[in-house]
Formats: sequence, C-alpha cells, structure tokens
Amino acid sequence: MKNILVTGGAGFIGSNFVKYMLNIDDNVSIINVDLLTYAGNLQSLAEVAENPRYRFVKGDIRDRELIDNLFYKYHIDTVVNFAAESHVDRSITEPEIFLTTNIIGTQNLLDIAKRHWKVEPDNKYSRDYAAGIKFLQVSTDEVYGALGQTGMFTETTPLAPNSPYSASKAGADMVVRAYNETFGLPVNITRCSNNYGPYQFPEKLIPLMINNCQQGKSLPVYGDGMQIRDWLHVSDHCSAIYRVLEKGQTGEVYNIGGNNEKANIEIVKLIIQAMGKDESLISYVQDRPGHDRRYAIDNAKITSELGWSPSYTFEQGIAETIEWYLKNGQWMEQVTSGSYLEYYDRMYAVRK
Ligand code: NAD
Ligand code: TYD
Repeated sequence: MKNILVTGGAGFIGSNFVKYMLNIDDNVSIINVDLLTYAGNLQSLAEVAENPRYRFVKGDIRDRELIDNLFYKYHIDTVVNFAAESHVDRSITEPEIFLTTNIIGTQNLLDIAKRHWKVEPDNKYSRDYAAGIKFLQVSTDEVYGALGQTGMFTETTPLAPNSPYSASKAGADMVVRAYNETFGLPVNITRCSNNYGPYQFPEKLIPLMINNCQQGKSLPVYGDGMQIRDWLHVSDHCSAIYRVLEKGQTGEVYNIGGNNEKANIEIVKLIIQAMGKDESLISYVQDRPGHDRRYAIDNAKITSELGWSPSYTFEQGIAETIEWYLKNGQWMEQVTSGSYLEYYDRMYAVRK
C-alpha cells in the first residue's frame, strides 16, 4: 500500500486528484491535509469521506509538528503538494500570504520528508533514501512568465515570473530543486497550464463566467480579452500527475498542457452561447496589473518520455463542465455565500 500525503486536497485540483486516485488505484491510501481557507471545501470530497483508505486532517503545511506527526502516524512515502494560495488577483492585493504558504510551506514539507525518508537522517553527506519514496511539487506554467504571439514554454525555458503568485510558485520550485541537488531528495516538479472542470472556486475565469451568466450578472472581461491561456481539463491533470508519480525520472520537471490555446473572450462567448444568454452581458473592465499576455505549453517531454496525453477536447470538456455547474447549484451556493460576496464586491468595484 502506498501512503500518499496530499496537501491542499480540499481545493479544486486536490479534491479531483484525491477522488481520481482512490478510484483508479486500490493500492493507495490518502491523507489529505488542508487548512480549509476560503478555497478549500469538504463538500467537494463528500463522496469519499467514509472511504477507509482516506483520512482528512485540518492543518497548515507550515505547521512543523503537525506534518511531522502525520509522517510518523501514517508512514507517508509520497507527498503531492497542491496546497497553495492560487489566485493571481488576490496575490496583487495580499502578496505576503503567497510567499509564506507557497514557499515556506513547501520548504517545511521538504524538510520533514527528508528527515523521515533518509536512511541516515543525521548524516549530512548521505544521499540514501528509503525505497519507493517521492516528493511531487505541483507547479504552474506561470513560472515561465509571458509569451508573445509565438513560441511555447519547454522545461528549459528560463523562469521569469511576473505576479506575486507566480513568483512564489517559482520560489517554491527553486527550493524543491535545491533539495534534490543538495540532499539528493527524490523529487519531481510538474508545471501545468490553466485547469478547468468541476469544483473550481468561482474566482477563476470559467466558473465565474458560468455563475454570473446563470445569475444574469455582467461578465467582467479584463482589458481587451485577447489574453491567451492553454486550457486542460482537471481530470487530465490528475492522470498526468499519476503518470509522473509512477514513471517520472527523479529530479525531472514535466510540463503538462492540453494543446488548447484560447483567448479569454472566445471562452466567454462560448459560455454565453452554451447557456443561451446574450453577449450584451459582457463588460470590458480595467485590466489586471502585469497581466501575462499569452501562455502555451510544449508537452512533448511528458508525452514522449512518459506516454501521457490529454483525453479531453476543449469542446467536450467545457460542455460537461457547464452542465456540472448547472446541476450542482448547491455546491455553488455554498461556496459563494458570505465572504465570497464581499470578495466579489471588493475586487470588481475598482475595475469599473
Ligand atoms: P485552490 O486554491 O482551489 O486550492 C488550494 C487548496 O490549498 C485549498 O483547499 C486551501 O484550503 C489549501 N491551502 C491553502 N493554504 C494552505 C496551507 N497553508 N496549508 C494547507 N492547505 C492550504 O487551488 P487549485 O486550483 O486546486 O491549485 C492547486 C495547485 O495547483 C496549486 O499549487 C496551484 O499553484 C497549482 N496549479 C493550479 C492551476 C489551475 O489552473 N488551477 C494550474 C497549474 C497549477
Ligand atoms: P484566472 O482564471 O484567474 O487564471 P490565471 O490568471 O491563473 O491564468 O484567469 C484566466 C484569464 O482570464 C486571465 O487572463 C485573466 C482573465 N480573467 C478575466 O478576464 N476576468 C475575470 O473576471 C477573471 C477572474 C479572469
């Protein structure tokens, strides 16, 4: 049995990953540690709450004692680190929490993993680790910065993050790299493009537009709406992470992308059309400061070396996603009550 510590497993991608893994591999047990910030929601995990191979622990990845105890108690042999502050707009107004959670939290996890997994924990020259262990850092294509009209990010593209969010993720990646180089800790880093699918918090483009469309509210498009993202269905991200856990070469970085470049305005119009609404709902608002113009992922390494490829087309994925949000109004209502409304008013009041 593999004992996987999933951090941030109550968030969008983490909750999808927990369910994916319990479903696809009978040989894993999962300990999910999540601080349950505004972005974490146990309702996203209701269907696995009683699964004997699953445990939830409320806690902070920066809490040394807690994480140490989890390693002892559950004999953790794998870490998949999703826990993070993940929203660029919030990082522009509150950068500090991004640096402490995303960088210091990651370093805390690495340090505890090193001590538990090292065959001789007190020997600083030893690079011997227990068999079958791995630390997987879930990172983002945003660490590479922005592209012009052509080109793609490869794993060797220099890091040039532009937002406090992407800078904190790049910082974490560098610390993970250093633990591999200096201490020989077996690590992988995955850098994924924009995800979409069920259970995404509606501060992000696609669920926000679906939710606003449904409520007949205006659809806030930043700047000219011609910024380009490469979209990947969350279940394809989960299968890619599983593949890297199983087959990834120690120390390697893998880009994960869906070959689905779309301008924001194209996506907004597609959602409007699918939901039978009118384009008059679109409202062009003040652009995000430092807004990256284009991201595009070259996924040749993971496809050729590990044999992974995405299974969703964007057309199929977006149709299913819209349907999911429409069918799961209760989930949306729960996450958009209270503090979400305050956030929404604060964030969009200044953009008009
Ligand atoms: P999310 O914001 O939906 O979830 C983050 C989770 O982390 C939440 O459940 C939150 O409660 C938890 N968390 C935050 N601080 C914590 C702390 N200190 N200790 C423990 N838990 C904490 O984010 P997401 O979209 O699911 O992203 C997950 C990871 O994937 C992040 O590391 C993000 O950088 C990366 N990523 C996301 C995307 C995307 O499109 N969403 C793309 C590429 C990479
Ligand atoms: P987002 O979902 O926040 O992801 P990221 O910034 O990590 O790529 O935003 C995706 C794109 O959509 C980005 O170019 C910003 C844009 N956007 C809007 O135009 N309006 C919005 O209300 C939001 C949330 C995003």
